[in-house]
Amino acid sequence: MASSPFLALFLAAAALAVVGTQTLAQPVAPGPTAPPNNITAILAKGGQYTTFIRLLRQSRVDEQINSQLNNSFNGLTVFAPTDNAFNSLKPGTLNSLTQQEQIELVLYHVLPRFYSLALFATTSNPVNTQASGNNGVYTLNITTTTNQVNISTGVVVTPITNSLSTDFPLAVYSVEKVLLPYDIFGPKPPAAAPAPKPSGSTKSPPSAISEGPSTDSKGSGSDSSGVSFKLQWSSLVGLGVMGVIATL
Ligand SMILES: *[C@@H]1O[C@H](CO)[C@@H](O)[C@H](O)[C@H]1NC(C)=O
Ligand SMILES: *[C@@H]1O[C@H](CO)[C@@H](O)[C@H](O)[C@H]1NC(C)=O
Ligand SMILES: *[C@@H]1O[C@H](CO)[C@@H](O)[C@H](O)[C@H]1NC(C)=O
Ligand SMILES: *[C@@H]1O[C@H](CO)[C@@H](O)[C@H](O)[C@H]1NC(C)=O
Repeated sequence: MASSPFLALFLAAAALAVVGTQTLAQPVAPGPTAPPNNITAILAKGGQYTTFIRLLRQSRVDEQINSQLNNSFNGLTVFAPTDNAFNSLKPGTLNSLTQQEQIELVLYHVLPRFYSLALFATTSNPVNTQASGNNGVYTLNITTTTNQVNISTGVVVTPITNSLSTDFPLAVYSVEKVLLPYDIFGPKPPAAAPAPKPSGSTKSPPSAISEGPSTDSKGSGSDSSGVSFKLQWSSLVGLGVMGVIATL
């Protein structure tokens, strides 16, 4: 009976294999708690994003984000400036913007796809944001090393300092500066004069910025509630945002 030890080993191995597949199969079962794809909930948990949360709510971009997450195969990425970042803005920076520009500023912090930190390394510049204006989609640039990811708008450069969510479909990263879009805060040469002047750019007088009321037909929300969005914004929410901004 020379084969019995081998048979025993075989049976033992088979038993282990069965146990192995069982233990492997178990984690596949769906967990009872779904991950929160709720931008405000994620930010509220972070504790230092109260200004950004208020701007998201008052521009109703939070609802736009949550419903986009429901319908998007690409996911979304949000750059969340801390309260310190807003406090560090030159006084009056946000007040110098039209209401539409303030919405674009919020949308500029949202990318229309999910980026893990690793994906940033392979992306090519410029990167589209959810904001747009007369000259099309507002973009930003991403540069990476092995341990750092920088965001450059052409007006400000700032690194990602923290990951608040990296679960598909919603990535949320903390930044220490408000991302000021070049299309709003960059120099506006009347002809061709592409000399970059980042330091003086935020000093432009409000009158230079608020020429032309807004671009109404842009695609920030492709749903049919765009009209009521605008109306509510201007009649109610706009005042709220102006109040928030005035307290900054
Ligand atoms: C998202 O979270 C906020 C804050 O926790 C909550 O007030 C809101 O109802 C949530 N929205 C959705 C769609 O779950
Ligand atoms: C997401 O989709 C589900 C099912 O289609 C729906 O019940 C829910 O209200 C949606 N949530 C949002 C925030 O749109
Ligand atoms: C990020 O920006 C800082 C400051 O401008 C710079 O020192 C650093 O080299 C940049 N890193 C990357 C990865 O671009
Ligand atoms: C962004 O990247 C593009 C392509 O590399 C480059 O042409 C552009 O000057 C960059 N802009 C900024 C603000 O870094």
